[in-house]
Amino acid sequence: MSSLVVKNPAPAIQCYPPGPRGHWLTGTVQRWRENSLKYLCELTQEYGDAVRFRFLLHWYGYIFSHPDHNKYVLQDNNHNFTKLPHPTFLLLQPLVGRGLLTNDGDSWLSQRRLIQPIFHRRRIAQFGAIMTEATEAMLDRWATTAGAGRPVDIDHEMTALTMEIVGKALFSIDLTGECDAVGQAFTAVNKQLAELNTRPFSVFLVRCLPFLPEVRRLMANIAVLDDVVGKIVQERRATGQKKDDLLDMLMEARDEETGQGMGDKQLRDEIMTLLLAGHETTANTLSWTFYLLSQHPEANQKLQAELATVLGGRSPTVDDLPNLTYTQMVVEEALRFYPPAYGIARTVVAEDEIGGYHVPAGSVVMLSPYLTHHHPDFWPDPERFDPERFRPEAVAARPRYAYIPFGGGPRQCIGSHFALTEAQLILATIAQRCRLELVPGHPVEPDPLITLRPKYGLPMRRLEIGD
Ligand code: HEM
Repeated sequence: MSSLVVKNPAPAIQCYPPGPRGHWLTGTVQRWRENSLKYLCELTQEYGDAVRFRFLLHWYGYIFSHPDHNKYVLQDNNHNFTKLPHPTFLLLQPLVGRGLLTNDGDSWLSQRRLIQPIFHRRRIAQFGAIMTEATEAMLDRWATTAGAGRPVDIDHEMTALTMEIVGKALFSIDLTGECDAVGQAFTAVNKQLAELNTRPFSVFLVRCLPFLPEVRRLMANIAVLDDVVGKIVQERRATGQKKDDLLDMLMEARDEETGQGMGDKQLRDEIMTLLLAGHETTANTLSWTFYLLSQHPEANQKLQAELATVLGGRSPTVDDLPNLTYTQMVVEEALRFYPPAYGIARTVVAEDEIGGYHVPAGSVVMLSPYLTHHHPDFWPDPERFDPERFRPEAVAARPRYAYIPFGGGPRQCIGSHFALTEAQLILATIAQRCRLELVPGHPVEPDPLITLRPKYGLPMRRLEIGD
C-alpha cells in the first residue's frame, strides 16, 4: 500500500455520525416506542458503530457501540459525560431521588466514598451464607409447592430471592413478607418509566402535571416502595440496635466539615437505590442464565459435572468460587447475552469528538452493553451462547471495554462483586439439586424496560438431577 494512502482518515471535526431523520415532525419517536432494543439493533446494523438519530424536531441523540467509544465516554473523558441532566436520570428521580445511581458531582463522590466499604470483598464474603441459606430455603419450598412437575415462574422466584438477600445483607431485615408487594410495584414502575422514557416531554409531564392518570399511577406505585423503605428506617430507629450493616453506616455518617448527618430524604434515596439496584438486575441475570441453560443442555451438563466434582453435594461457600470456574463463565456469558442494564445514558457537557465524530454540548449519548456484547468484531458468532468465551486467554485477547455489563470508569456498578458472588452461589446451589426446563412452547422475548426482563415471565419445570 502506498504510504500516501491513509486508512480510516480522521473525519473533520464537524462530521456527524450517519443515521435516520425519521418522520418530518415526530422523528424516530414511534420506532423507539414500538421496541427500543429492536430499533437499537436495526440502527447499528444499518449505520454502524456510531449513529445519530433525530428523536423529535431538532433533538438528536447519539448511539455508540464500539469498545473504544465505551472507554472514551466511561473512562478516558468521563468528566465530560454526566448523568444529569439526562432525561432518563431525571425521570428516575421520583423513584430513587439523588441516590448513588442518579447523583452527580461532589455530592455523588462523597456518597460513593461513604457506601463503598460495605462492598469490599471481605464484607461480601460474610454475605455468602445468607445467599446460600436463602436459596436452600427456596428449594425446600419448591419441593413441596412445586412438586409433581408443577412449573415455577423463575423470574418471580429470582426476584423474591434476590430481594430477600439484599434486605438481609445490607439492611439486616427480612423482606419476605413484602416481596410480592414490592415486586409488583417495582415491575409496574419499571414498565411505566420505560414507557415514559421513549415519550417526548416526559420529564415535564411527571414533574408538572401530577394530576395526569399515568403520573398518579406511577406515584402510587412509588408510594408502595416508599412504605417499605420507611419501615426499614423506622424499625432500626425503634430498636436502636447496632447491626454493623450498610444501614448503620448510612445513619451514622457525618459530613467531615459540618459534622451533619444525612438528611431523611438522602437516606431514603440511598436505601431505595440499593434496595432496587441491588436485587432487580441480579434476578434478571439469574432468570436469563436458567433460560439459556435450558436451551443448551451441553453447557448444563458441564456445569453439573463441575458442581459434582467441586462440591460433591455440599452447599457452596464463597471459598469454593475460585474452583467453580465454569459456573462463573456461565454467569458471565449470560450477562453478555442478555445484559440487564442494556443501555447506559449520558449528557455531553462540552462539545466533544467520539470515534472521530462530533457531538455537540448538551446532546444525549447512549452506550449499549447489549450492542457491544453482540458486536461480531469482538464476539465471533455473537448469537451463540458459549461460556468458553470467558476462558482467561479469550478474555485477555479482548479489549476491556468490549464487555461492560457493569459499566466502567468511576461510575462502574458498586455492587458488581456482590452480584457476581450472589449469582454464582445461587446458580451452584440450584443447579446441583435440579435442572430447570422451560415449559414447552412458552414464548421468550427480552422486554426492554429500564432493565432487560423476560417479557412473558419464565415458567420452568424442576427436574431432579438424573431425571
Ligand atoms: C448483575 C447485576 C447487576 C448489573 C448488571 C448491574 C449493572 C450496573 C451498571 C451497568 C451500572 C452503571 C450505570 C451507569 O454507568 O449509568 C450500575 C451502577 C450501579 N449499581 Fe449495579 N448492577 C448489578 C448489581 C448491583 C447490585 C447487587 C447493587 C447493590 C447492592 C448495585 C448497585 C448499583 C449502584 C448503587 C450503581 C450506581 C453507582 C454509581 O454511580 O456510583 N448494582 N450497575
